[in-house]
Amino acid sequence: MAKSITFKVQPGGKLKGEARVPGDKSMSHRSIMLGSIAEGVTHVTGFLEAEDALATLQAFRDMGVHIEGPVDGCVTIHGVGKHGLKAPKKALYLGNSGTSMRLLSGLLAGQPFNTVLTGDKSLSGRPMKRVTEPLAMMGAQIKTTEKGTAPLEITGQAGQLQGVDYTMPMASAQVKSCLLLAGMYAQGETSVTEPAPTRDHTERMLSGFSYPVKQQGSKSSITADGKLTATDIDVPSDISSAAFFLVGASIAVGSDIVLKHVGINPTRTGVISILRLMGAGIEILNERVVGGEPVADLHVVSKPLKGIDIPEELVPLAIDEFPVLFVAAACAEGQTRLSGAEELRVKESDRIQVMADGLLLLGVDAKPTADGMIIQGGAIGGGVVTSHGDHRIAMAFAIAGLRATAPITILDCANVNTSFPEFKDLAKNLGLDLVCEETMDGQSC
Ligand code: S3P
Repeated sequence: MAKSITFKVQPGGKLKGEARVPGDKSMSHRSIMLGSIAEGVTHVTGFLEAEDALATLQAFRDMGVHIEGPVDGCVTIHGVGKHGLKAPKKALYLGNSGTSMRLLSGLLAGQPFNTVLTGDKSLSGRPMKRVTEPLAMMGAQIKTTEKGTAPLEITGQAGQLQGVDYTMPMASAQVKSCLLLAGMYAQGETSVTEPAPTRDHTERMLSGFSYPVKQQGSKSSITADGKLTATDIDVPSDISSAAFFLVGASIAVGSDIVLKHVGINPTRTGVISILRLMGAGIEILNERVVGGEPVADLHVVSKPLKGIDIPEELVPLAIDEFPVLFVAAACAEGQTRLSGAEELRVKESDRIQVMADGLLLLGVDAKPTADGMIIQGGAIGGGVVTSHGDHRIAMAFAIAGLRATAPITILDCANVNTSFPEFKDLAKNLGLDLVCEETMDGQSC
């Protein structure tokens, strides 16, 4: 029986206090993948105990890797080495996670066994040709549906993959990482060039596991000559989860919060740059490097925001944060324009359409375009919106409540558990007036 979750937010309030949001999703996935094919025992702390990262963890258990935990964010992975994965007994179910499916397609293309990758309804509708086409150039055998979607049926090509020199048509860290992981099993060199900088956690973490990756400008290259040596990984808090409170504290008058131990890798900080261009009061404190990744505490006080034209080069650096940045734009004085963000249409939902529909319903002047949105700042009203099962849409509309003039009800919020199960508790502790209603088959429980 499907559980349905509804968020009900009372209007107004402010955010006050300190919080540590959960671990970075991108790094949590990668810690399991690389720890599993490393030699030796890898200890991970700060691991994100949410459905997406747990799906990756289960996939590697299904391929014979002994993994202990997670307990309070601690995971111990008994690595089996680059060639130690075993054929899973059934299809690997990856839930809602595009990162898991796309990275695994690369890692599994060169194994001596076959695999099938499946996902939930949203993941099964997302484009996979962006990985299967370049992998096919390397000699991979992967069948998709006619539409180029999951399930992916991978016929392992152990020892048969060839390196490739690939320029990505879109700025995607998932595609880049997929090909680098495949390149660890290919003959010759595999190089990926990105049209704009994207998150570089794969490259950094490979180096942390002592696996050589070459970086020349926008090109990353790898070969099969190397092994991963187990290491300890401290996963910082996810800036994509922190983003909800960066915006919340910026728009709610009288707010003053500190978010602790947030990952501020420069390929992820577009949300801070965009909010600062809008006039936000965000201070970066106690900058330090933890396990090869920059980390800081973020101090945010509310400030009046102004509308801006979002610089296109910041788009890939804030790609997951636009749902909540649209809420910031709705609270700003003047017009905010986003362009060059067509990738938002193929995320967990069509984030341009779904956010525009919801904002319009709340009385905001939001105009979707093919590759972005034009938002005229003004008042946010109340109403009933739906997240379309997209975690970041649900949380963005909850944050909108801080500046709404009437209650906002958000339907279909169970997917918040894919990335941020603690959202409602942390948000309430900081001052958001949020009630979460769970219903089972229409009955309150
Ligand atoms: C991710 C890359 C991004 C991002 C996703 C996580 C990753 O996707 O939206 O949430 O961990 O590599 P794209 O590669 O599709 O831009």
